[in-house]
Amino acid sequence: MPDQAEPLRQLIKEQFSPASLKQTRLVAVASGKGGVGKTNIVLNLALTLAAQGKKVAVLDGDFGFSNIDILLGLKPEYSLQDILDGKVTLKKALMQGPHNLWFVSGGAGIPADETRSQKAVSRLANELHSMDGEFDQIYIDFGAGFGALTEEMMRLCDDLLLVVTPENTSLADAYALLKMMTIRGSVPQVQLVVNRVASFVEGSATAERFMLVVNKFLTINLRILGYVLEDTAVSRAVNRQIPFVIGEPQSAVTKCMSQLAKNSLSEELKVTDEHGIKAFFKRFFKRNS
Ligand SMILES: Nc1ncnc2c1ncn2[C@@H]1O[C@H](COP(=O)(O)OP(=O)(O)O)[C@@H](O)[C@H]1O
Ligand SMILES: [Mg+2]
Repeated sequence: MPDQAEPLRQLIKEQFSPASLKQTRLVAVASGKGGVGKTNIVLNLALTLAAQGKKVAVLDGDFGFSNIDILLGLKPEYSLQDILDGKVTLKKALMQGPHNLWFVSGGAGIPADETRSQKAVSRLANELHSMDGEFDQIYIDFGAGFGALTEEMMRLCDDLLLVVTPENTSLADAYALLKMMTIRGSVPQVQLVVNRVASFVEGSATAERFMLVVNKFLTINLRILGYVLEDTAVSRAVNRQIPFVIGEPQSAVTKCMSQLAKNSLSEELKVTDEHGIKAFFKRFFKRNS
């Protein structure tokens, strides 16, 4: 759609001057099937990073099934749906949470159809662009499965944080998601998190099993970000509407979040020219021209 790509082309021209260095890293959070713990993990990981002084935002992209606001016990005025509908800017929609974490809820809208999605991606891309440098990391928590908007956005982000559990169904669906993305084009760097493990041994065995299949059949850059133990602190946090890293700082699952945070800040994941919002735009432009 050249009419929609034109303003972006202009933006890219302006933005690819070597002068500006500060970049925001975009991380898409995905899973094959739902209910594997994506929202709890991204929220608590983001809170952990925010508590360490990183400026982090989480956008809840699970339209219609949004629950980041519920997990935080906060009632935002605007949602991501309002941003996609052009009703409000991302800057205005962002609500401040604990530890100076910023977030946008998904809202209760119906998922956009193919045509609206292209427009929605452009809009979101523009909004993200306007925030470049404002945050160290922006996580976008997508719903389970594979809508058009989700697919496009997942592809454009720097990393895909893929959450699985040791259940065969979760692994099979996560594999199907990667395969589908591979068939339709490129896949960003994938960071694997194995959630709800009984032990770290189970976590690494699961990750290795998954990597073996992925490396055999797909050409994907996959790395293990870490493991998250099964812990009743998670459901207590959900019910109390207080994230477990805040409500239960001594819990096993909180310690897992610290490890994930540490791993996600490691050397390998440093922002380069091929990462951040500018790179997002470069990819967006390539795909739409
Ligand atoms: N590590 C864990 N230990 C125990 N229960 C968990 C864990 N992770 C997730 N859960 C359970 O799974 C439910 C769904 O998690 P949620 O983050 O909403 O999943 P998703 O965003 O993938 O749909 C939580 O409400 C909680 O009861
Ligand atoms: Mg969720």
